[in-house]
Amino acid sequence: MQELIESALARIAAAHTIDELEAVRVEVLGRKGVLAGLSRDMGKLAPVERAERGKFINSAKQSLESAYDGRKNEFERAALAGRLNREWVDLTIPGAGPRPGALHPVTQIQWEIEDLFRSMGFTVLDGPEVETEFHNFDALNIPPDHPARDMQDTFWLEGGNLLRTHTSPVQVRGMEKLGPPLRMIAPGRVFRNEAVDASHEHTFYQLEGMMIDRDVSVAHLTYFMKTLLASIFRREDVTVRLRPGFFPFVEPGFELDIQCLICGGSGCPVCKHSGWVELLPCGLVNPHVLRMSGIDPAEWNGFAFGLGLTRLVMMRYAIDDIRWLQSGDLRFLNQFRTAVVR
Ligand code: DAH
Repeated sequence: MQELIESALARIAAAHTIDELEAVRVEVLGRKGVLAGLSRDMGKLAPVERAERGKFINSAKQSLESAYDGRKNEFERAALAGRLNREWVDLTIPGAGPRPGALHPVTQIQWEIEDLFRSMGFTVLDGPEVETEFHNFDALNIPPDHPARDMQDTFWLEGGNLLRTHTSPVQVRGMEKLGPPLRMIAPGRVFRNEAVDASHEHTFYQLEGMMIDRDVSVAHLTYFMKTLLASIFRREDVTVRLRPGFFPFVEPGFELDIQCLICGGSGCPVCKHSGWVELLPCGLVNPHVLRMSGIDPAEWNGFAFGLGLTRLVMMRYAIDDIRWLQSGDLRFLNQFRTAVVR
């Protein structure tokens, strides 16, 4: 019996891993182990021997358990030391810090223009991107078979609705909802079913403007457009000219050109040596359009304009490919991290 115990103690001392140690414990101290076997036999012994056996087993159990506990402790301490060595974290290293976002250049220019027009008494309106055929075309005096519908390749949706091809339908909604007198702008996203290349996108941004009042003239239109352009291009004054242009919702309709800001009008590659750059279409609101939105053209008239926000951003920052704007490419976007605080 003494030998049995000694060899068990030796194996405990020699265990290489906690699993080996555990195996020895089960074999010696477990329910079906050596010690349990020795106590089971006790019943057959004479009382004196039984008492001796009892003492022996007790002291053997004690020394085995303390040897086992000691070893187990060693293994656990070694395991902990290993983990601490592998998993330590240097809490004094500075954190990664927040990475603040920035406003997209289209948003920046949009907000700038909104602020300007608000300061001149205009309301900023929002309209739906999924539009009815009525608001996108009919109410703007674009009849069903009119070639102007072909000018704007439309994404048609089930049920006869469409993705708005311009922000002009918000004029109609503004007139319907607010009535005259009215000063409104409507920035927003528009969609056209177009092949994408460096200067065409299926999705881009426009800003529509409209003013309805009594005795509105082309002089009012020119004044507001010059104020807008001076603010956007940060000039004291900009020179503009109007050329005739056709849009069914305005009469007369114009293309507004701006004198080239690069060469001052003397001619350069940017203005294709003409001295002028085409900037935005506009005109006096067609009386039919007023009437269709419930406004009496005998009493009220107005002007409207459509500004290509995407194009304006491209001009301002000399961006040569429209696809950058929706690329989500941080190499592009990070160049517009100016602090815009509102
Ligand atoms: N809605 C036109 C387009 O997207 C642009 C436009 C032209 C708007 C003339 C106007 C305007 O308000 O008067 O092609």
